[in-house]
Amino acid sequence: VDSAPPRLAQELAGVVGAAHVLADPELTAGYETDLTGRFGGPASLVVRPGGAAEVAAVLAACVAARVPVVPQGGNSGLVGGGVPTGGEVVLSLARLDSLGPVDTAAGQLTVGAGATLGALQRHLSGSGWAFGVDHGGREVATLGGMAATNAGGANVLRHGSMRAQVAGMEAVLASSDVIRRMSGAIKDNAGLDLPGLLVGSEGTLGIITALRLRLVPALPATVTALAGVEDVRAALALLDQLRRAAPSLHAVELFHRDGLELVIRRRRLPDPLPRPFPVYVLIECAARQDPLDELAGALGGVVSEDDVVVAADTASRRALWEYREAHNEAINAEGIPHKLDVCLPLGELAPFLDELHARVREAAPVARTIVYGHLGDGNLHVNVLGPAPGDDAADEAVLRLTAEHGGSISAEHGIGVAKARWLHLSRGPGEIAVMAAIKRALDPAGVLNPGKLLPPTD
Ligand code: MLT
Ligand code: ZN
Repeated sequence: VDSAPPRLAQELAGVVGAAHVLADPELTAGYETDLTGRFGGPASLVVRPGGAAEVAAVLAACVAARVPVVPQGGNSGLVGGGVPTGGEVVLSLARLDSLGPVDTAAGQLTVGAGATLGALQRHLSGSGWAFGVDHGGREVATLGGMAATNAGGANVLRHGSMRAQVAGMEAVLASSDVIRRMSGAIKDNAGLDLPGLLVGSEGTLGIITALRLRLVPALPATVTALAGVEDVRAALALLDQLRRAAPSLHAVELFHRDGLELVIRRRRLPDPLPRPFPVYVLIECAARQDPLDELAGALGGVVSEDDVVVAADTASRRALWEYREAHNEAINAEGIPHKLDVCLPLGELAPFLDELHARVREAAPVARTIVYGHLGDGNLHVNVLGPAPGDDAADEAVLRLTAEHGGSISAEHGIGVAKARWLHLSRGPGEIAVMAAIKRALDPAGVLNPGKLLPPTD
């Protein structure tokens, strides 16, 4: 596959308009590096089509020119899955940002792939409906990118990941065929589920252009609490109690003192509790009626009153969430992190953490390891600071340890380029062979997002 010949730029301008073909390095720069700053490369062009037909025409031109294409949503990814490695055309879905009316009969709506999660949340406000997935990147992440990576976030324990919200899809294949299954029919067993196949395929099998999304009832009464505990085993005991005693449980998040201190410094925030704790658990309950008593009951006997702060109004709830959601930004400000997003069976989470720091130090003596994540799902974000961006000894140590404990090397961020060579730690040879065969069948020329997700073959 070649890099873009000059003729291709003209041809693409004929499809999308010259204003939407970017070649000037100053204009393409924002599309070339992912959010970690660790992954990326120069794009030969950035193209911004305005609809599925234009996406199909762009793809056809790139296939004919044998130039690879990297589909990109909000470029808020953390594994290098949505940025070029060098010479590809970046196909930005940002202009496909429509938000359809809520179909109240079905509890669904149709959105363009380039609409952001935050825009969807504002669109739904006051409708009585909400979207089941939420995360800190809401103002940048697009719904198409979230489906392509099967994004998770804070409410997976209640509503499932992105996969569970996708009721239909429009996508363009490498053949330029547009597949459209947007009726939102609840039951549909007419053969293989191609939209389901594209969820989590990270732009390697097709380009998602629109989605039919399932909605959940908006829950007007929300309470958030931040509790300090002595260690992760105490956090897990709290989670255990919360799951049984609080059916309104909406999120259970974890962070440690070291990460909190970075957030406090970066955002100039006060310490959230009267005294410091090694481990913090952020809990949210949401229901039709005020869930405060239910939450207080669930905390009782496990966390003493002095060790928890509770917020019921929007501003104080947001203030508590900031301690958790600003972790990514605060860590990025310290240097280029190695971000390992892993999922452990809950029973293995504490034994994994017992070994983690020593294993990372063994692989990378300079490393500083900061862990936070979505406790309710066993999903930890292991952030390693110190090793050079190209030195992946610590990455390998974390992913191998994860596999030893029966976990998955990617929980919600995807595989991208960051973890492609370790896919075998979470998928057997038979499964990887099937993935490669599907890739060859759908994209025989290898034009769609090459080098991502599947392990290198040489
Ligand atoms: C989060 O949970 O904050 C996001 O997944 C981003 C991150 O891993 O930092
Ligand atoms: Zn996360």
